[in-house]
Amino acid sequence: MKKVLIDCDPGIDDALALALAAGSSDEIDLVGITTVGGNVDLEFTTANALALREFLRMGDVPVTPGSAGALLRRTVRAADVHGPTGLGDVVLPAPTRGPSEGHAVDFIVETLRAAPGEITLVAVGPLTNIALAVRREPRIVEWARDFVIMGGSFTRGNHNPAAEFNMLADPEAAAIAFEAGWTVKMLGLDVTLTAAVTSPVLERMRPLGRLSELLVPAAQYYGMVTAEGGPAIHDACAVAYVLRPSLFTCVPAVVNVETAGQYTRGMTVTDFRVEGRQANALVATSMDVPAFWDLVLGAYEKLAAR
Ligand code: BDR
Ligand code: CA
Repeated sequence: MKKVLIDCDPGIDDALALALAAGSSDEIDLVGITTVGGNVDLEFTTANALALREFLRMGDVPVTPGSAGALLRRTVRAADVHGPTGLGDVVLPAPTRGPSEGHAVDFIVETLRAAPGEITLVAVGPLTNIALAVRREPRIVEWARDFVIMGGSFTRGNHNPAAEFNMLADPEAAAIAFEAGWTVKMLGLDVTLTAAVTSPVLERMRPLGRLSELLVPAAQYYGMVTAEGGPAIHDACAVAYVLRPSLFTCVPAVVNVETAGQYTRGMTVTDFRVEGRQANALVATSMDVPAFWDLVLGAYEKLAAR
């Protein structure tokens, strides 16, 4: 059983990543969900996480809200992709339970402190909470069993030609997270764009009962507004990595996040020439796409059958 803490900004693909975790409850013990302002405002990402916790039958996993905005930068949102409230046109039943007391940064620090070496920290939104947690308690870097992100790329951006959204939304936080001293497992656009919901994948989502009422319209909405090659459920790749690292080819690299560039802010400058240097990242360069979908759809099927 892998203990996992997910920091997220749901967000359509965040929702589909949470569904993968929920459907993998025989392998993943989800110890907490923390939220951050990102795709939409914190108020919405938290409300969505609360609604998803109940819709996905995730039990009493705590949902703890965190940072509303970037450390230094003006707010960047992706409501054009995820819809004004973050889940496209999906309306989930209103949650019956509220968020936990306290702040995500404290929750992350105290949860990792309580179980050193046991918990994998997964971040699929801007890295604001993570950076603040690192600053508040640098030992989380040692306590985390692993640190896995959806973010960045070594080839291209999506928000603009240079930068991926999660990096651009808080470049200083991303820089802090990459410089913290752990090896960041980076699932960037190079790989996550291959996690596209194709028509055959969508057809496999349709028979999944009430779960399909989330998956299908979410993917369709996402597909309507993303340009190239169908909607890619980026964030699910990070959870899939935790479940099956063997699906991914990963290469050590030195990754620096550009924070000063006029046109390249948020770019993850990735140097695979690590000889004689300490790599700070293990960068995914390819993914077994059919095996990824077998894993994801298999988890969704298990969840739908519950
Ligand atoms: C990332 O940005 C967000 O819009 C998605 O939720 C994902 O985490 C993809 O660039
Ligand atoms: Ca996200």
